[in-house]
Amino acid sequence: MHSKDIRKSFIEFFKSKSHEVVTSAPLMPSSPNLLFTNAGMNAFVPYFLNEVKPPFLRITNSQKCIRAGGKHNDLEDVGFDTYHHTFFEMLGNWSIGNYFKKEAIYWSWELLTEVWGFPKPRLYVTVYKPENDEPFKFDLEAYEYWKEIFNKEGLDPDTHIHFGNKKDNFWMMGETGPCGPCSEIHIDLTPDGSSNGDLVNKDSPWCIEIWNLVFIQLNAQSNGEYTPLPQCHVDTGMGFERIAGILATTKNFKDFSNPPSNYNSDLFLPIFKKIETMSGYQYNFTIPANKNLKDNTELIDCAFRVISDHIRTLCFSIADGILPGNEGRNYVLRRILRRAILYGKKLNLQEGFFSELSEIVVDQFKLIYPEIEIQKNTIKKVISTEEFTFHKTLERGLQLFEKMSAKGSISGKEAFNLYDTYGFPFDLTELLANEKNISINDKDFYIEMEEQRKRARKAHTKDEINTIEAINYPETIFKGFNIGENPFSAKLLGVENIGKNNYAVILDQTIFFGEMGGQKGDIGNLITPTGSSYPIVDTKINNGVILHIIKTEKFDLDVGAEIELLIDFKHRKSIERHHSATHLLQWALIKVLGKHIKQSGSQVSQNKLRFDFSHFESISQNNINEIEHLVNSVILENVEVKSSIIKYKDKPEDVIAVFGEKYGSKVRLVDIGGFSKELCGGTHVKSVGEIGSIRITSESAISSGTRRIEAMCGEASISLSNEQKNLILDLSKMLKCKNEELKNRFEKLILEKEDLEKKVKIYEDKIFTDISLKLIKNACTIDNGLNTSFIHGPVEVSDAEALRLLANKILSKINNCIVLISTTSKENSKIAICSAVSEDLIKVGFNAGFIIKDVCSKLGGKGGGKENFAMGSVDKNQQLIKLLKNYKPETKKV
Ligand code: SER
Repeated sequence: MHSKDIRKSFIEFFKSKSHEVVTSAPLMPSSPNLLFTNAGMNAFVPYFLNEVKPPFLRITNSQKCIRAGGKHNDLEDVGFDTYHHTFFEMLGNWSIGNYFKKEAIYWSWELLTEVWGFPKPRLYVTVYKPENDEPFKFDLEAYEYWKEIFNKEGLDPDTHIHFGNKKDNFWMMGETGPCGPCSEIHIDLTPDGSSNGDLVNKDSPWCIEIWNLVFIQLNAQSNGEYTPLPQCHVDTGMGFERIAGILATTKNFKDFSNPPSNYNSDLFLPIFKKIETMSGYQYNFTIPANKNLKDNTELIDCAFRVISDHIRTLCFSIADGILPGNEGRNYVLRRILRRAILYGKKLNLQEGFFSELSEIVVDQFKLIYPEIEIQKNTIKKVISTEEFTFHKTLERGLQLFEKMSAKGSISGKEAFNLYDTYGFPFDLTELLANEKNISINDKDFYIEMEEQRKRARKAHTKDEINTIEAINYPETIFKGFNIGENPFSAKLLGVENIGKNNYAVILDQTIFFGEMGGQKGDIGNLITPTGSSYPIVDTKINNGVILHIIKTEKFDLDVGAEIELLIDFKHRKSIERHHSATHLLQWALIKVLGKHIKQSGSQVSQNKLRFDFSHFESISQNNINEIEHLVNSVILENVEVKSSIIKYKDKPEDVIAVFGEKYGSKVRLVDIGGFSKELCGGTHVKSVGEIGSIRITSESAISSGTRRIEAMCGEASISLSNEQKNLILDLSKMLKCKNEELKNRFEKLILEKEDLEKKVKIYEDKIFTDISLKLIKNACTIDNGLNTSFIHGPVEVSDAEALRLLANKILSKINNCIVLISTTSKENSKIAICSAVSEDLIKVGFNAGFIIKDVCSKLGGKGGGKENFAMGSVDKNQQLIKLLKNYKPETKKV
């Protein structure tokens, strides 16, 4: 069976059992605790927990999954065996509080044996049997159904049913959430199928798990408890690549003589074929016994598997908007890509090979997962940019690694240096060290890393305001989302001295926003009951406690005092303009550049906004214009900005949440007229007309794969426009033309300048030729048997640069020549000196650098250069003429 038919047949089977087919969820998980979508059930968690009403009670699909990083991490195994992948498809059927163990077990048997013809005697199953303190109880119910099946088939249940503890037979998505006992189906692929189940769960390629039937009955809590769920659910996951590999290897169960491998299936063969063409190497179907590969053939095969697995991961994740980067899931992806490139080196594959492979993957899957076709250009570009950067890092890093490893070990400090100074990832250093069998001191590496973190923290805390760690105050009530210019009354809860002349004032409630999520803190004044006014220069927040920062020599006020706050309204409004504009900017970026745009940093202040995001190349001026235009169009529509508090789990799918951000169960949703929807705790304009307009002022790279846009809104953007308008007016005045003629005038001026420069060059050349001919005519000969001409003396040219050109001109006209000429500057009190020596004289030991040093040192000046050419400078004096006149160049080295 072709892999396409397997997928189809699975779906059709469950459709016939009244299941609804749903499309695969994206690899970007909806749960903030996951790096990637790692199982078919991820998207259904809210149904299992009864938080969201399911649209259907029986569901089936083929789900894209990545298991790299996090709880389920197969990255390090990929390549070394034939059945683990970072990216794979999981075929599954789900019951949401509908059918349970009986149907799940019977249907799995029916599909495998009746529909697909799996040989029954080769199938083994496992059932949950907890040990000591492990959760739940022996899964007798599942055991009984399996026993019934095997008995009916005339197979011994004692041989075919195995028991597993929590590690093997209790499935959890992460540390918390819906979970339960599971029953796995394994197949014996040994040539004669006589393992009697001895290889089940023994990490053998000859007996692998193909289907996991999970019975979701419990909810794992963060305190370690497992609470029963009100309803029981089924969550099954079949390894699609494994089924495809088994059917391909055994030729639909007709031939068990070959070593089984997922990579034998048509899912991988086209990629292998391309690698073979590109590298000239052949895949040899070996299976290594363990990670210590025994020969080059095993290594080559391992490289084929790694590369073909990883290219699929990269293609699918980029298509779903996850790009290689420096943090979190993005870094995992970068590691995967780099691992593939390193293995590519083993096959002598050149830079660019990996992005080229993406074409094959796109072709293979475009009909099943259309997003991969839609994003094919982005996929290729992102991968090739990453390849280029990594090759540069590699070249430098590998050279250093070779040097460092020559002594047989790598110290933690050296590994840190490679990482810190040369950007060479530590895991690569580890990988290379392992390959070379040399030791590496990882403990010291992490000590160095920690030291660096401390240094960075220290650098950040130069402002002592940040050093307040734990304060015992209740969370400040924030009432500043909708403010006016009136004073706001609050009660003083405490004052903390936070450094010389710096105080943090803590109140019961406030309208001052403490710097958070990129939005700068408010400024204003604090008025005491006696009418004294203290400027609040900044506002910070620490564990919900808002700190009003006051710079004063003395601040004495009793706890409980009623004070008044006067906020700098204009300052706050400007910040809000930039904040709302940042949301619109992100919306427009996604619209113009694609779904892969993810925020990686943001700062909104009074004068500008700064937005960092994942993107792989510079943005064209056309696109920048379009982005700016989109935002300004929404501003012109003057749509309202609405905010509401919602449960995190209820947030609509299209809401932007920042990964890594810890959201509580309740979150604030900021919705700008339905255009942009983001989770955000900051303050915003009431309607976007207040923004005025946005002007993008710069677009740049801050690291590989991360771009930065800066922009101005409101008054800042008006000031910018005014500055630019005035500049244009000034230029028009200078050139005595109308504004609209400026471009033409400049073009003309540039052409005229180029023309003039050409003429000057021709003129100079003629002058230099004349002077040099004259100098050559007057050259003296050094009596050293080499017929050496010595041209020396002061000449009259414009500057040191002209002197240099003249010396070159002389050398181009005469062989065996030493030049030592000078010219007096018309602008300052210096004399420039230049020496040049022909190639033939360098060979016998003359040296321009030496001559200049010699002359300059005699006259208290400075100079130097190479053997053939050197320049120097001395203060104006009469000695030079004399010295040049009598100078005898010697054949000495510098
Ligand atoms: N969630 C289970 C797994 O991933 C079954 O689908 O193995």
